[in-house]
Amino acid sequence: MATTSTSPTPRTTPRATASSNGHAWWRSAVIYQVYVRSFADGNGDGIGDLAGVRQRLPYLRELGIDAVWFTPWYPSPMADGGYDVADYRDIDPVFGTLADAEALIAEAAALDIRVIVDVVPNHCSDRHSWFEEALEAGPGSPERERFWFRAGRGERGDLPPNDWSSIFGGSAWTRVRDANGAPEEWYLHLFAPEQPDLNWDNEDVRREHEDVLRFWFDRGVAGVRIDSAALLFKDGALPDFDPDEAPSPHPFTDRDELHDVYRSWRGLADGYAGERILIGELWLQDAARFARFLRPDEMHTAFNLQFLACPWEPDQLRECIDSTLAVHAPVGAPATWVLSNHDVTRHVTRYGRAESSFDFAAKKRDIPPVDLELGTHRARAAALLTLALPGAAYIYQGEELGLPEVEDLPDEVLQDPMFFRSGGTDPGRDGCRVPLPWRAEEPTFGFSPEDATADPWLPQPASWREFSADYQAGRSGSMLELYREALRIRRADPALGDGALHWLDATNGVLAFARGEGFLCVVNLSAAAVELPRHDRVLLQSGPLTDDKLPPDTAVWLLHFS
Ligand code: NOJ
Ligand code: CA
Repeated sequence: MATTSTSPTPRTTPRATASSNGHAWWRSAVIYQVYVRSFADGNGDGIGDLAGVRQRLPYLRELGIDAVWFTPWYPSPMADGGYDVADYRDIDPVFGTLADAEALIAEAAALDIRVIVDVVPNHCSDRHSWFEEALEAGPGSPERERFWFRAGRGERGDLPPNDWSSIFGGSAWTRVRDANGAPEEWYLHLFAPEQPDLNWDNEDVRREHEDVLRFWFDRGVAGVRIDSAALLFKDGALPDFDPDEAPSPHPFTDRDELHDVYRSWRGLADGYAGERILIGELWLQDAARFARFLRPDEMHTAFNLQFLACPWEPDQLRECIDSTLAVHAPVGAPATWVLSNHDVTRHVTRYGRAESSFDFAAKKRDIPPVDLELGTHRARAAALLTLALPGAAYIYQGEELGLPEVEDLPDEVLQDPMFFRSGGTDPGRDGCRVPLPWRAEEPTFGFSPEDATADPWLPQPASWREFSADYQAGRSGSMLELYREALRIRRADPALGDGALHWLDATNGVLAFARGEGFLCVVNLSAAAVELPRHDRVLLQSGPLTDDKLPPDTAVWLLHFS
């Protein structure tokens, strides 16, 4: 057993050469998710915007990420945080202008940061010109064919066309009225009524989305995150079904017709220089079906939402890692690792609970007790685990600051349709979308400029002072410094990112694996401190060692020469 120095020097040259020519950059990328509305407010109206992002690009550069994924920034009535898109080729005025987005893409590129945009093909806004035209044109028109309009059931047509439920709660159908106010057809919306589903059997829909991809690729974006990517196609017969019976094929999830669309998108992306990528948001239980989307001529990668949902439990994590790698291997796609995003309870909070898995259905207003100190220890260890696993990794804004979920937002400030459509039984997703704290000593913790004219769109807890980026910067032991150091090592060490993993023998409750020639990652999820494997140097640790042993809920990165 050798030294425990914590100031490593890179063993080899950085892999910048490989990524700067674009070659397979995405196989090892660390992608930072910006939820624009909550990242940084440049103009003082209390809402994050592109000016705010542009001011903070140096922060992202210093953090050491490879790309930024922006949640939808398009003109939108914001019925679902912008996932109700009114115009796919512009920027919402609250966020800025198209020229701002172009400048942002160029400024990010100058810092070697790629930009990924969110595309939303399953549905648009009810204020999109297509939907307005469809309402206007009336039943039987080609304009209505771009959506799912149907007559209602029952004698007066006042029952929905089928029994499908919206993912946000309630029926998936809303009835429209004609010009005289009389009830007329119904339209399908798998999410909120303000998000009518598009009909992917319609050629206009297909053509339009390919054109939107070209629009953003032409502006230099490096990839697209595909929202609700498994939902686009519907069984045209729109049959009733029992969701508990998991029918196959399912009337609207993971239908075979999807693959043809993504093949076509891949062909389009491959026509651009510099490896433009497709990233799928696929909530699918069946791992083999998930992998079909990652065949070499379809998407490049997809979010590992199983890992995100997995509890902080050694056997289940090990199982999840193994099955992830096994599922990706045959299609040759890199795995991805995700701990949090804008839809789920932040993992500092999840990991501080007795039940630390994530499940939408289990999220209730009755919030179980949480030990945030424990959750933070675990989140630190999880960061080292995640960033050492083979493939690409995602960081949700604020995760690098160790932010917990805000679970005591008053009802009157909540905006998420999940809260409203559940009749308030589901607290919704606002608690992970609270504006970021940047400067400990400023009002709004520097989220808005000091002369701001409005409060942040969601209130920040007073306790967030010490989570502020400037408070953590340079402070040893802070979450921000842990992420910075981990990302610095990851960039410098070719053993990390894409590649193979070898498990090491370890005591029960300990995850230990090797990458490359001599990089080791050990995570202790057992209740007792454990000996470290033979090593020459400690590169990074998520918490202090005790008598050279690794305490519970702690992770370490080691180097072992020879
Ligand atoms: C998934 C997005 O991540 C979520 O925020 C959104 O509400 C739904 N798709 C609908 O677009
Ligand atoms: Ca603003």
